[in-house]
Amino acid sequence: MERVEALQAFKNMFGADAEDLFTAAGRINVIGEHVDYCGGQVFPAALNLRCNVYARKVGGSKIRMAFRGIDGIVEIETDKLDSYRGLKIGNYQAGVAYFLQEEGVEIVGCDLYYDCTVPFGSGLSSSAAIEVATAVTLCEYAGVQYDKVHLALLSQKAENKYAGVNCGIMDQFASAMGKKNHAVLLDCATLAYEYVPLELGEYCLVIANCNKPHNLVESKYNVRRQEVETALKLIQTKLDVSCLAEVTPKQFSEVKYLLSGVVAKRAEHVVMECARVKSAVSALKKGDLIELGRLLNESQFSLRDLYEVTGKELDTLSALARRETECLGSRMIGAGFGGCTISIVKKTAVEGFIRRVGKAYHDAIGYKASFYETSIEDGVTVEKL
Ligand code: GLA
Repeated sequence: MERVEALQAFKNMFGADAEDLFTAAGRINVIGEHVDYCGGQVFPAALNLRCNVYARKVGGSKIRMAFRGIDGIVEIETDKLDSYRGLKIGNYQAGVAYFLQEEGVEIVGCDLYYDCTVPFGSGLSSSAAIEVATAVTLCEYAGVQYDKVHLALLSQKAENKYAGVNCGIMDQFASAMGKKNHAVLLDCATLAYEYVPLELGEYCLVIANCNKPHNLVESKYNVRRQEVETALKLIQTKLDVSCLAEVTPKQFSEVKYLLSGVVAKRAEHVVMECARVKSAVSALKKGDLIELGRLLNESQFSLRDLYEVTGKELDTLSALARRETECLGSRMIGAGFGGCTISIVKKTAVEGFIRRVGKAYHDAIGYKASFYETSIEDGVTVEKL
């Protein structure tokens, strides 16, 4: 949606002009999937697909929210913030407001128009973008200094404890702390981070959404978390480690006998994926894109065979990408069970890639994939209109 249209929509909804624009980004993850809640390193980057919040400070105790593509206004009262957990739309915002208030931030009434260009249910973290953008908005209007890492943690807390999804820190961190043309190498155990230029020379990343209808992702995600916690407890009977990411591949081969069934498979994915992140970052720093692509493929196979979070649609999409001669590697990103893949594709071949993969996917699955033109941008922006 163009800015002029969003400004007009704001005026139609609230009868006044928007005064500020706060945005936070959706994200991709180059590699390091399903390891953030195991203390591993992840390697996400913030996108130009974002949650745009057109806003006006009003004062008083009402937050009024409107949303692109949805009729009507959702209203929440700042003195009843605990009571909106059941909201289908607006619960992420209420959760963020609730935890900010709990910290002593004065939540000020405002009118907010959400134009979220991160496709919902795509694995590109629309929820994190909504949470972080809302947290920035409310802090700006409360006139408090804020630290973006803290807002990422608070947003994660809202998702865990208010919306009931037991996610790790990767998405909110990338949404808040992303940097233009860089990926963030984040250690999820310590929150130490490093920006690494995402320079792919004559290649680029193509994002494709398999468009599988979103269902039960949260509950399946929470089950995976329990499985790796079980694995950790068993491994801790032999090794002095505080998280699975601390276990090296060699150590894992020595303690694997303690685990069985899916618990063994899940833990093996985590240990090997953590090792792959290190290799991938050094490959990228050396400009070895062939090796980077190979690691992306390995990550996909591990998510398919060991973590079992891919499914027919994502497997098909990434296999079709790999079949292309100008594609160096392809894998699903995010929680899985649907959502997006990223593929490293030669810039001059992107058009043909999208055409051929798109057609073959449609033939195999029966509906279309979507491809997005994206760029890597800053996580948060704040602008006076
Ligand atoms: C979702 C969660 C993240 C992370 C990924 C998988 O996006 O929100 O915390 O666990 O899945 O890597």
